[in-house]
Amino acid sequence: MADRDPDLIADAHDPAAPFRRDVLAGLSQPRKVIPARWFYDWRGSQLFEEITDLPEYYPTRTEIGILKACLGDVAARVGTGRVVVEPGAGSAAKTPLLLDAVAPSAYVPVDISGEFLREASAVLQARFPALPVLPLEADFTHPFALPAEAGGAARLGFFPGSTIGNMEPAAATDLLRSMRHALGHDAMLLIGMDLIKDRDRLIAAYDDAQGVTSAFNLNLAERINRELGGTIPIEALAHKAVWNEARARIEMHLEAARAISFEAAGQTFVMHKGETFHTENSHKYSRESANLLLLAGGWEPLAHYMDPDCLFMVVLARAILPGMTA
Ligand code: AVI
Repeated sequence: MADRDPDLIADAHDPAAPFRRDVLAGLSQPRKVIPARWFYDWRGSQLFEEITDLPEYYPTRTEIGILKACLGDVAARVGTGRVVVEPGAGSAAKTPLLLDAVAPSAYVPVDISGEFLREASAVLQARFPALPVLPLEADFTHPFALPAEAGGAARLGFFPGSTIGNMEPAAATDLLRSMRHALGHDAMLLIGMDLIKDRDRLIAAYDDAQGVTSAFNLNLAERINRELGGTIPIEALAHKAVWNEARARIEMHLEAARAISFEAAGQTFVMHKGETFHTENSHKYSRESANLLLLAGGWEPLAHYMDPDCLFMVVLARAILPGMTA
């Protein structure tokens, strides 16, 4: 046991430990930040589902439209019988479209949340009874190995939703590289990436008229109160979505409308009026910046599929072989 990470052993006895660690570290920084992955408790996941149906939130429906239009071409390029590997538990609306098109030999969803993963896998298994569905409970932002039952067929990674955009460029590159490593030399990748567009349209998508995105953002502070004995005065926080032009990203913040002080995980924190928690980055790409990111991550773009209004892009890429120059 000498080589086991002591943090991991402690976390096994205290499931709230990683959340507490991130919140304490993030709230102690000069600019308060809470990693976006903590949005997705049960309530947060429900609210995200609601976001995907909002009139202002174009990415989900646009990407589904692109997939419906491009999957014939994708299937012709990738062939059938691959092992499809999807970081995340799988999207009920998108994954079946891909599985129908490419007739894989197995499907491996990879997600850190075991409960959510098992539920989503059971739904897919019912829809595709003959397909080996092999859920893998792992943090896909770290290197991971595929289950042996997946077999030796070439792999196709599927990473829709522009989830890559929620990572800083360095972390996004690391993730692409670890997927490249996990999926092997003859792998291909189908990835959704949201495009840079008119600022007002971007802001509206992250600050909708019904206030669902505001509720999604505020749920993070409510989660700290629920799970870490927090006393954050929720009514003093306001949802804020801003376009950061220099970094080509929408940022979500929770802004204090007045000076506040509160407890969280046994510590006291203060915020002055106007100070924020930074809760999410959602990077947007041009075709060129998307290509650069993919190349840095070990993937060579082969085809770009967009909707007629150029709102969103799905890219098919192939693994760059070691020593491959062209
Ligand atoms: C999951 N992710 C790609 C969403 C996005 O658009 O960045 C999360 C989200 N945050 C606010 N609305 C949606």
